[in-house]
Amino acid sequence: MNRDINKHTQPFREMRVFNNWNVIAKGWYIACKSADLPPASVKSVDLCGQRIAVFRDNKGKTHAVDGYCPHMGADLGLGSVKGDRLQCFFHQWSFDPSGKCVDIPCLSKSSPLPAKARLQAYATEEKYGFIWVYPAADAPFGVMDIPDLEGKQLVFRHGRAFERRCHHHINMINGIDAQHLRTVHQINIDMNIDIELCDRDTVLDVTLRGEFPGKTRRERLGRFFLGTRYEYKMRYADACIGGLSIMRGVYLFGGKRKLPHLTMLYAYQPVKGGARVQPIYVAEKRSGIWGGIKSYLQMWMMQVAYFALRDEDGFVYDNIRFNPEVLLPIDRPVARYMAYVNALELSVWSASWKTEQAASVTPLQSNSAA
Ligand code: FES
Ligand SMILES: [Fe+2]
Repeated sequence: MNRDINKHTQPFREMRVFNNWNVIAKGWYIACKSADLPPASVKSVDLCGQRIAVFRDNKGKTHAVDGYCPHMGADLGLGSVKGDRLQCFFHQWSFDPSGKCVDIPCLSKSSPLPAKARLQAYATEEKYGFIWVYPAADAPFGVMDIPDLEGKQLVFRHGRAFERRCHHHINMINGIDAQHLRTVHQINIDMNIDIELCDRDTVLDVTLRGEFPGKTRRERLGRFFLGTRYEYKMRYADACIGGLSIMRGVYLFGGKRKLPHLTMLYAYQPVKGGARVQPIYVAEKRSGIWGGIKSYLQMWMMQVAYFALRDEDGFVYDNIRFNPEVLLPIDRPVARYMAYVNALELSVWSASWKTEQAASVTPLQSNSAA
């Protein structure tokens, strides 16, 4: 991280949540692949600076608790699962899915269990082939639905996860940075931008639409294959999942045949010195062989488009000092996104969570050009 460099001429400005490494906003974070946790098994994962024990009971339901036993601190990932209970390897204390200790073998049945023998439990969900963990016992919303595919049956493919050397809040801006579409990607579309906040301000939808001008080769190609109009949408959930839907409102050769949207999801989590990004390509599930091929082709095309765009500027995020002192009207989505991030709720995984709870601080809004 480069926050201590240029600190007298370009000091790093700490915000409440945005780009703040001491804070983990409430949201869904990937613990592991579903396939890596068979029934009646447990594993420990490092997630957002926490050690978490994720386990699947004998009925297939997933659960998550803090990863160290409250007795003497053994890693609960070394333990085993009996029914819906997690048993520590060391002295075989057992915990139910709510984190409460329900059995200590060396105590007689009549002896009370110590009140402090409990673990913080976390909500879990399985979606897109992963087990996701939410940093609270209950989650107000499930893992984000991909824009345009809400309520549909889906197929998905996991891309190769990779890391960037910056906070994930910064990396996530790329999809709504309208200026760089022109300067980096040579897509000189004069975008109209709609921004909508929903699900109790945890989800931000940004829709960008405009006309292909037809000056550059890429624009002319776009115009030829897709017609003159173009639209795409970015959805952010809790500033840790991004959903992208491209090729909206486009027609083959500008004719009457509407083309399907291409969709993907990015799941982020902070790791030491950077962010881990997990791409997931998603399409509507269709029946029959031709339907399957079509869905597969959609995911493949999304991947090709994503790689092409990512490789044109991804390296910028490996050394960026994001201090947004001078934003222009065209940067409005970026400013709005930062204000949205700064108003998110802190989780118990945040260093400042207790202080903020005690002080009942009203969330500060970003003081950028929102
Ligand atoms: S350390 Fe877990 S039961 Fe003793
Ligand atoms: Fe980009």
